[in-house]
Amino acid sequence: MTLSYRKELKNLIPYKPGKPIEDVKREYGLDKVIKLASNENPLGCSEKVKEAITRALNDLSIYPDGNATLLKESISKKYNIPVDEILPTSGSDEMIDLIAKTFIEKDDEAIMADITFPRYAATTNMMGGVPVIVPLKNYTHDLTAILKAITPKTKIIWICNPNNPTGTICSEEEVIDFLNKVPQNVAVAYDIAYGEYVERKDYPRNSIDFIKKYPNVMVMKTFSKAYGLAGLRVAYTIANKEIIENINKVRGPFNVNSLAQIAAVAALKDEEFLKKTYKANIEGKKYLYQQFDDMKLSYPPSEANHIYVNIERDANETFIELQKRGIIIRPMGGTWIRVSIGTMEENRLFIKNLKDILNK
Ligand SMILES: Cc1ncc(COP(=O)(O)O)c(C=O)c1O
Repeated sequence: MTLSYRKELKNLIPYKPGKPIEDVKREYGLDKVIKLASNENPLGCSEKVKEAITRALNDLSIYPDGNATLLKESISKKYNIPVDEILPTSGSDEMIDLIAKTFIEKDDEAIMADITFPRYAATTNMMGGVPVIVPLKNYTHDLTAILKAITPKTKIIWICNPNNPTGTICSEEEVIDFLNKVPQNVAVAYDIAYGEYVERKDYPRNSIDFIKKYPNVMVMKTFSKAYGLAGLRVAYTIANKEIIENINKVRGPFNVNSLAQIAAVAALKDEEFLKKTYKANIEGKKYLYQQFDDMKLSYPPSEANHIYVNIERDANETFIELQKRGIIIRPMGGTWIRVSIGTMEENRLFIKNLKDILNK
């Protein structure tokens, strides 16, 4: 064919999500497969969400509210922020895309850690920008090195706190010190997809308030993780009104579907479900730590719902071996894997099979 594609696409590869359960079942002829690859909530979602969606099933012929008014109002009430500082999106994935479309022009720089969530680099490349990669230090964002990497071409800095895949965090003191030093003409996309899972007391709990003092900061939250709504695709970002107005220019008119909006409103009301999720995650994490310690495998302590582990064996081969046994995890290159914390039954099954494989 002689079609001419944007040259930025040349070096892009499609995002490879965690392998779907159905694919693995078919490939290996398995009846039961568990997925610990995409940091989903093993408890599912709130019963209140299911009830709310069921009630809304008769309205599917109507377009969603393009302004997501009820959802914005719920978020506004819960966190005491004006509605014009809130922008719901179809997952944080969409927001990462929209942020790149809003800020990145050809040859502009976006600073991010290595290793972190891969969509930050992919969307920068998509816009013809340059990802500036700053290695983690002790598996954690090196905020000092990130500040040093700022140049006149820097448009965005991506901070993932807790970081995916390492689960590590920067403390409130570190983040505030960092934000004080970032020039006001550089946007900071502060992604707290896993914020609800953090145990450490020095984590910035009220990061939504950052936007009051730092108008260049965007705080990104999602319903995909602790709220258990990954399948519906809904998230939101809190930012200064001017930023939201500009992102709105590149957003699709009906970007968040109607069931997702209704589900998110109901999810915000169910604090009990979040507490249950938090507790179950800690229980699973303790068990996995104990098992990894027994197996003498190292991992950075995680404040998220996943653990980054050095299995001292080829990660890809182990990923395939686990898959043959009906367990999907994420190989991260070299000898590192990322495993999502599942139900206790899933965690035990994973450990039993990992032990079998590593002992061979
Ligand atoms: C750090 C981080 N940000 C954003 C996302 C995207 O989340 P979603 O699009 O499901 O809201 C993920 C998903 O794994 C993530 O790990």
